[in-house]
Amino acid sequence: MSGIAKNEARAVKNSQVEMTEVVLPQYANVLGTVFGGQIMSWIDICAAVSAQRHSRCPVVTASFDSVHFIEPIKQGQVVILKGQVNAVFKTSMEVGVIVFAESPFTGERRKAVRAYCTFVALDAHGSPRGIPDLIIESEEEKRRHLEATERRRIRLLNRKLEVKHAYKNG
Ligand SMILES: CC(C)(COP(=O)(O)OP(=O)(O)OC[C@H]1O[C@@H](n2cnc3c(N)ncnc32)[C@H](O)[C@@H]1OP(=O)(O)O)[C@@H](O)C(=O)NCCC(=O)NCCS
Repeated sequence: MSGIAKNEARAVKNSQVEMTEVVLPQYANVLGTVFGGQIMSWIDICAAVSAQRHSRCPVVTASFDSVHFIEPIKQGQVVILKGQVNAVFKTSMEVGVIVFAESPFTGERRKAVRAYCTFVALDAHGSPRGIPDLIIESEEEKRRHLEATERRRIRLLNRKLEVKHAYKNG
């Protein structure tokens, strides 16, 4: 079996990822700010690396729960993405990513985007597989874990409602 055993719990810090990008002209729209889709692509990569650092096996994106674009990021700015696993369930885990926009000249950093994504770990046959438990060490991690658990409750409820709706509408 690939990856690490289910009982080898891992700390949140083991899943932390920091990624740096620059908003080049090809990433900007006519307003001179970065495309939302480009940011989502960076978030997906950052979150996938974080999920793999926790599970040490292949993962797929199951859903993007929410992406909040708080402030625009301008062409020429430095983009810093910070990701970490917030909570682990049976075969899935929630990764939170915060994106900062940094001025290359003053170094000033602003929080620009916040996103939560769910990844599922896969075995060699492409089926969901169990993942290691998460060791929660700080009050901040405890808060994030509680919030992630609540988001999962809402996510599963929404999924149930969507399936019901799909059957109703053929
Ligand atoms: C994600 C995927 C593996 C789930 O497979 P599945 O047969 O529905 O698996 P299950 O119903 O057994 O669910 C497995 C886990 O996925 C979670 N899950 C399934 N669909 C989900 C969704 N839309 N959002 C969040 N979590 C989801 C379940 O809650 C479950 O989590 P748990 O084991 O921690 O409780 C499957 O739907 C898939 O392969 N989707 C395509 C992924 C993809 O191509 N992503 C883009 C490129 S990486």
